[in-house]
Amino acid sequence: MLDRENEIVASTLNNGEEDVELSLRPQKISQYIGQHKVKEILSIFIESARMRNQPLDHVLLSGPPGLGKTTLANIISNEMGVNIRVTSGPAIERPGDLAAILTNLNENDVLFIDEIHRLNKSVEEIMYPALEDYALDIIIGKGPSARSIRLDLPKFTLIGATTRSGMLASPLRDRFGVLCNLDFYNTDDLKEIIIRSAGIIDIEICEEGALEIAKRSRGTPRIANRLLRRVRDYAIVKSNGKIDIETADNALMMLEIDQLGLDKLDRKILNTIIDYYKGGPVGVETLAASIGEEKGTIEDVYEPYLLQIGFLARTPRGRIVTEQGFKHVKKIPINNNDSEQSNI
Ligand code: ADE
Repeated sequence: MLDRENEIVASTLNNGEEDVELSLRPQKISQYIGQHKVKEILSIFIESARMRNQPLDHVLLSGPPGLGKTTLANIISNEMGVNIRVTSGPAIERPGDLAAILTNLNENDVLFIDEIHRLNKSVEEIMYPALEDYALDIIIGKGPSARSIRLDLPKFTLIGATTRSGMLASPLRDRFGVLCNLDFYNTDDLKEIIIRSAGIIDIEICEEGALEIAKRSRGTPRIANRLLRRVRDYAIVKSNGKIDIETADNALMMLEIDQLGLDKLDRKILNTIIDYYKGGPVGVETLAASIGEEKGTIEDVYEPYLLQIGFLARTPRGRIVTEQGFKHVKKIPINNNDSEQSNI
């Protein structure tokens, strides 16, 4: 493989935590907890592709970060019995970068592109014939004498992941045969994930302890597994090395994670909108500048959960804190008559 290609196809960054995180990821669909609808449809399409001895159709996975898009891509390649190559939209800078990856795939392999909404236009354009006809159109020369030659590619499956399916150009979106949207997990599924993970990292946990962590994990397995590791540390140092409801609660209080799983930044978002903008509406750029966070982090990481639990709402004029949001941070709701909500 070329050096440049090596840079583009991610070799995962590694510190100890990431190794643990990876060890917690299920490898097979039968080990994957939650997302029942997604599992059901993927199982059928995988089985059909295997029976036909064809690659799986291209799959688009969308949803907030930490819900298991990368895990599912790995599971799909395991279940199909093929290799997976992992890269991301921003890492593929030039059409030649993508061409190098595609020409190195084996028949039926999976190419996983994270943050696929961040592919640039010129790369996106060479993707179209690759997805549709398993071919690369290469332009040779410039101006009137330019001509295009077509290079055949191995058949492959593209799995794209995005936190913003709305930002994907529609010609690209239309070329995915399977569209899966991942939702936040319910507390029961998260509890099961935590119990499974506790077994892998070898820490004793009771049902109530797991439930307490699950309730405070913002519907997100990545957060559940991270909190589990922090509660484990707390249990080892401050308690008897076992996780019960009291140890879980004490550890999470120490981390300033409240009963609903909101952290300091969530509360800062709510308090800033209330204190500086009378509860809103306020645009996300203005809000980001006020709290000193990246706009993308607010949009991708914080806002989806605050919207989901009904503490924030979007209106045509910006974000507003809802009555429940005011109550959660113990403030008296201001009626600013901007109840026109939308799904923008
Ligand atoms: N670890 C992280 N996500 C998981 C899931 N959905 N099922 C089981 N274990 C997980």
